[in-house]
Amino acid sequence: MEIIKYSKVYRIIHWAIAVSFMLLLITIFLRLTWMNKFNVAAIIKDYLIGTGQNLSDDQLIILAKKIRQPMWDWHIYIGYVLVGLFSARFILPAFGQMKFQNPFDKNLTAKMKIQKWTYIIFYVCVIVSLVTGLIIELGPKELKKPMEEIHVLGIYYLIAFIAIHLAGVLIAEFTNQKGIISRIISGSKTKIKKH
Ligand code: HEM
Repeated sequence: MEIIKYSKVYRIIHWAIAVSFMLLLITIFLRLTWMNKFNVAAIIKDYLIGTGQNLSDDQLIILAKKIRQPMWDWHIYIGYVLVGLFSARFILPAFGQMKFQNPFDKNLTAKMKIQKWTYIIFYVCVIVSLVTGLIIELGPKELKKPMEEIHVLGIYYLIAFIAIHLAGVLIAEFTNQKGIISRIISGSKTKIKKH
């Protein structure tokens, strides 16, 4: 069994990306649930009815979006952080760090090929999210709507990848890659006891 030692740079980038994705997921979760503009608008509407006041539906949505904005700003900040982290991740192989693994390698087992393809599909999806996110924020107005339609689909692959990744790591830890979790945290090589 091949025991991979993860370098300090590898571990820092790995955990920075993991934490950023978790924070990003929280902003998406809040936007889809508690801070959903329709929920917030309904709360304001309810309150105003009780005080004998009234706002149009459009005004209620504008107000709801304004309330949500300080939370949503964090999606954009974390998005920029991820642009930086993934740029570093894609540049590092040129310096001999965090090398990409080749799924076409003839010596790979079917399982290893699936693992490597999963990462490649994930990276392609992330690039699409980052590029569409940047265009929504910084690009021309006429591209905003079509980019949003692609960008919002990101939630599906993100949740799927996190679930597959966690399950994969746990299975590896308890089968043929004992110590993989401590190696990606502390970088240490595990000593495998022979009975
Ligand atoms: C891998 C990185 C990213 C993922 C997985 C992601 C995911 C998402 C998802 C799922 C939504 C929709 C939330 C909803 O339906 O309510 C969203 C919206 C949005 N994201 Fe991202 N995002 C990423 C990066 C970025 C970046 C880099 C930026 C900009 C710097 C950005 C800017 C936005 C904006 C402005 C919206 C709102 C679009 C709208 O109003 O419909 N995102 N993102």
